[in-house]
Amino acid sequence: MPDSLIAADKRHCWHPFTQMRDWCAPEHEPLVLVEGEGVLLRDSKGREYIDGNSSIWTNLHGHRHPKINAAIREQLERVAHTSFLGFTNPQAIRLAEELVALWPQDAPQPLTRVFFSDDGSTAIECAIKMAVQCCQNRGQLQRNRFLAFTHAYHGDTMGASSLGGINAFHGRFSSFHFPVTHVASMKELVARSESATPHPIFPNGIAGVVIEPLIQGAAGMRLWPAGMLAQLRAWCDLHGVFLIADEVMTGFGRTGKMFACEHEGVVPDFVACAKGLSGGYMPLAATLTTESVYEAFLGGYAEMKSFFYGHSFTGNQLGCAAALASLAIFREERVLEQLAGKIETLARCLATLKDHPNVGGVRQCGFIAGIDVVQTSGAPFDVASQTAARICLAARKHGLLTRPVTGNTLVLMPPYCISEAQIAQSVEAVRLGIGEVCG
Ligand SMILES: Cc1ncc(COP(=O)(O)O)c(C=O)c1O
Repeated sequence: MPDSLIAADKRHCWHPFTQMRDWCAPEHEPLVLVEGEGVLLRDSKGREYIDGNSSIWTNLHGHRHPKINAAIREQLERVAHTSFLGFTNPQAIRLAEELVALWPQDAPQPLTRVFFSDDGSTAIECAIKMAVQCCQNRGQLQRNRFLAFTHAYHGDTMGASSLGGINAFHGRFSSFHFPVTHVASMKELVARSESATPHPIFPNGIAGVVIEPLIQGAAGMRLWPAGMLAQLRAWCDLHGVFLIADEVMTGFGRTGKMFACEHEGVVPDFVACAKGLSGGYMPLAATLTTESVYEAFLGGYAEMKSFFYGHSFTGNQLGCAAALASLAIFREERVLEQLAGKIETLARCLATLKDHPNVGGVRQCGFIAGIDVVQTSGAPFDVASQTAARICLAARKHGLLTRPVTGNTLVLMPPYCISEAQIAQSVEAVRLGIGEVCG
């Protein structure tokens, strides 16, 4: 890799969530990733790493999977992209059909309709705009407010960011956000809605509640109590509020089932999918909803009930072809069955970290793990020390690539094709990284 390319990166590129002063410092040598195969990524110097966070929680079946590669190539021979606005295409139709079939169709309100977009943030934007316009179309104009949870993360576009509850990410934009009421728990939600004092919002002013089911990712892999999602579904049913499940991180097997909602037998009114939807190969997202929501948008032109939302790459054929191949891999390679054993292996390996003096806690949800690093006294590290980031840098030397979330939580969530030995190697790389930085 010529140095001139890195110099050009430093001159022209702006990386997300990155202090560019340090990135561009002469002594900083960016890691240039040039190839991948299976669970491994290769850098420009030929060094190999386990993709420990699945390239920001996107990759499922490994890099350059022959079936996904072939599906994209085959589609490329026909056409890469055509508009979904006014036209349709076979890949998007088939994918919509398969996505719907992943959800129970005997639910009281089954998910039957699919709206495609580009990424996690747009899948959420789409869900909240659909919920708002659905209430408008139904004449429920007072239902114009959303509930979300403290520490939530639903993306960075202004709408998705309005729902966010992580001060460092969202606080600075708060004056531009639409109003969202944040609650910390199911208990608080129930208490507020049952309060004897009439409340302007609870519950009749609420269009929808948005939740990361089972586990809040960017918050630091925080687990919700078991049963909470089912309770939230019941609360939404009681008050006529939409349940919007953000399965952007949890969807497509991450929690051990196809969707996190399955663990509690919940079918939401809206589901946002992205990241792993295309196997992590292409930017593609889908928002699923019910027939009853969809029907609220039907009417004559003068009624202006059509959904006023869309993106240029909606229903992108290459992305949909990749997603169809990814779903075929789930079936043909019995991915979820194989994953069950690997989830147990991950649990066994993580258990060896629990007594480490610099590990304050270890949480696991399926094939997602969060490891909190602490000072030997048990006190958290000052975020300014960038300890968790430095541990990830140290783990690189032992063949693992990952990034922390929100300060002091290390993340392990590799592609599902990782071997048992590579799981052990990943956890060992974390241990060595912690030892080198904290020891
Ligand atoms: C739960 C959740 N929702 C939404 C998003 C936003 O997705 P994207 O970065 O693709 O816009 C993320 C990203 O990490 C996420 O974890």
